Amino acid sequence: MAKRVLLCPPAYFEVVDQKNPYMSGGPSVDREKAQQQWEALRSALEQAGCQVETIAPAPGLEDMVFAANQVFVGFHESIGKFIVPSRMVHASRQREVPFYVDWYRLHGFKIIEVDLGADRLEGHGDLLWHPDWSRIYAGYGFRSTQTGVEKFRDAMSNLGIPVVPLHLVDPYCYHLDTCFCPLNNEAALVYPGAYAPASLAMLSGFWKRVHQLTVDEAHKFMGNGIVANGTYLTPYVTPHLESILRQEGLAPVIVETSEFEKSGGSLFCMKAFLP
Ligand code: ARG
Repeated sequence: MAKRVLLCPPAYFEVVDQKNPYMSGGPSVDREKAQQQWEALRSALEQAGCQVETIAPAPGLEDMVFAANQVFVGFHESIGKFIVPSRMVHASRQREVPFYVDWYRLHGFKIIEVDLGADRLEGHGDLLWHPDWSRIYAGYGFRSTQTGVEKFRDAMSNLGIPVVPLHLVDPYCYHLDTCFCPLNNEAALVYPGAYAPASLAMLSGFWKRVHQLTVDEAHKFMGNGIVANGTYLTPYVTPHLESILRQEGLAPVIVETSEFEKSGGSLFCMKAFLP
């Protein structure tokens, strides 16, 4: 069955403030180029056999194109497909959440509200499934808060899904999806410098093969790729990354994201896989 994936067109995409270190006054966004890059992502996903769904972009929500962050998407045999709405750090991003929640509600997803209080939780920016849905890795420190992740863990424990909290320490890896990418059930890409030592040790314990990215690879979003049907969509590739991918039976496919990198995001951030 084709993997379904949700994207949001970049009609109102812009860099208007500094939410992360990548957004610090470089050249402004080329809207036309951003649109072309987004179309190329859409075609690359379709080429890889994915069925692409879209949500309508809303004016004034400059980061809505980053479809990975507004909710956590899950599946459990006891309740079927569900989402956990995020509570985003930035006000403009928080306004994206209801649009996404409505989309998921309309598409038959159950909504699990976690009472986050003043805590933060940023969807698949920080929450990544093990590919076989057996466990969730949960980054905190810059966006999601430690207690936010703990409240999420308590909610998931009701479903019997273990959550592994991971302390992030590199501001250029402010979301877990910038320094961690599962390639299959046994192997993952990890940039070690992004984690507190105990978290790195814990994360490594869950994988037969941990492939380490260099700092340059990580900060160029090479760990923010998308695994789809034997390919790894990535904004750049190095000989080092290429050899890792080859060992794991994956072929790199370059999809440029220069405009979105100005906002601190790349391919993984721009989609949500749907169960
Ligand atoms: N400008 C966006 C922000 O700072 C980028 C989000 C990137 N998304 C991600 N999943 N890493 O919130």
